[in-house]
Amino acid sequence: MKGVSWGIVIGATIGLVVGVLLAVAALLCIRLQKKRIRLRNSSSLRAATVPMRANGVEACAEPSDASTMDQDSPIHHEAEARGLSFWVEETKKRNPVSFSGIPKYLYKDLQKATLNFTTLIGQGAFGPVYKAQMPTGETVAVKVLSTNSKQGEKEFQSEVLLLGRLHHRNLVNLVGYCAEKGQYMLIYVYMTNGSLASHLYGEKLQPLSWDLRVNIALDVARGLEYLHDGAVPPVVHRDVKSANILLDNSMTARVADFGLSREEVVSRHVSNIRGTFGYLDPEYISSRSYTKKSDVYSFGVLLFELIAGRNPQQGLMEYVELAAMDAGGRDGWEEIADSRLDGLFDVRELNDLAALAYKCVSRVSRKRPSMRDIVQSITKIMNARHSRMRRSRRSMAATVENSVDIETSEYQSSQSEHQRDESIDSLSDLPDV
Ligand SMILES: Nc1ncnc2c1ncn2[C@@H]1O[C@H](COP(=O)(O)OP(=O)(O)OP(=O)(O)O)[C@@H](O)[C@H]1O
Ligand SMILES: [Mg+2]
Repeated sequence: MKGVSWGIVIGATIGLVVGVLLAVAALLCIRLQKKRIRLRNSSSLRAATVPMRANGVEACAEPSDASTMDQDSPIHHEAEARGLSFWVEETKKRNPVSFSGIPKYLYKDLQKATLNFTTLIGQGAFGPVYKAQMPTGETVAVKVLSTNSKQGEKEFQSEVLLLGRLHHRNLVNLVGYCAEKGQYMLIYVYMTNGSLASHLYGEKLQPLSWDLRVNIALDVARGLEYLHDGAVPPVVHRDVKSANILLDNSMTARVADFGLSREEVVSRHVSNIRGTFGYLDPEYISSRSYTKKSDVYSFGVLLFELIAGRNPQQGLMEYVELAAMDAGGRDGWEEIADSRLDGLFDVRELNDLAALAYKCVSRVSRKRPSMRDIVQSITKIMNARHSRMRRSRRSMAATVENSVDIETSEYQSSQSEHQRDESIDSLSDLPDV
């Protein structure tokens, strides 16, 4: 009897141990399987990304997906700097990733985020733009493609595809889109400080300082240089103007609105004229052939807007031509300086920038500089400013040092004078012998 009960105990123990081991093995198998599925999914997501260039550097990136980005890539740092990584991750969990690698949003989510499309920021040719508060706390701009808009579904698709692979610190980045129930929307990073046009012409805003205007010119030039020479294949903007330059919270300028953008190959033979009156390259109007140099022309107009504080609708270019007769294209441009600057600008910088702008608006496109040349020229203006500042700081320091030296020596001499006086006094205190 005792032998039998021992047998039962041993048997039960062995059974229990084997059972536990089997359960642990099964659990490990399930976890391994899950991990494999996760890995397969993430590699297929990566395979679906579009090769792109960021700041001229070749990178295969699914721009909105921080997890697939090279940790050292400029895109990664940019997203991180703006605190977007977390938001992008959250968005990815909630929204399926589209064909272009840009998150697709649900209509009802955007409806909620825009308080049923009541938070209107403005209205453009593309349609209305709304400010949206996402559940993650992020603020975005939602551009609704109006159904009666001249720009249709094709432009919408091209903008999504285009912006999905274009990322640069001087471009307004697309962070999502919605295509549902015949409604098309583009979701952009929200630009806190609005458009450059509102700062140049708005009554309520403080006038932009001269230094800031030069910084903005360089930012825009860099954004366009990226489109022309960094993006593969190159992209022409087709609607460069002050209303399409937006300013972020640190007043960095970003090129917006790719609704009219086309890859250059597509744009060579267009039948109807696109763009905004006053910014249009005259050569494009006559030849109907839009090139990178047509963007350069519009950029030249934009530079003159920054200098003169007036837009083409206010007769900017006639004003420029009159000044050019006096200035001969090189000097004397200060007569067109924006009166809101109150004379607070560097004459040399203004003349250099205006001379560059005048080259950009040359009627012969061949004579216009490339965006790369323009970036170099504005950088030179900035560098000259910095070395001037360094020189004046050094001379100021030298003046202060000199005056300190003079004061010290004056102090020392006054001290010695004083000591001498004292010694004379003390001598005079001596009783006459
Ligand atoms: N990402 C954004 N952040 C903040 N405001 C924006 C954003 N995108 C557009 N806006 C604002 O929304 C308004 C309308 O913009 P939209 O681009 O539709 O028109 P536009 O630039 O004035 O003209 P066009 O249609 O010819 O480009 C503008 O005042 C613009 O400053
Ligand atoms: Mg616009």
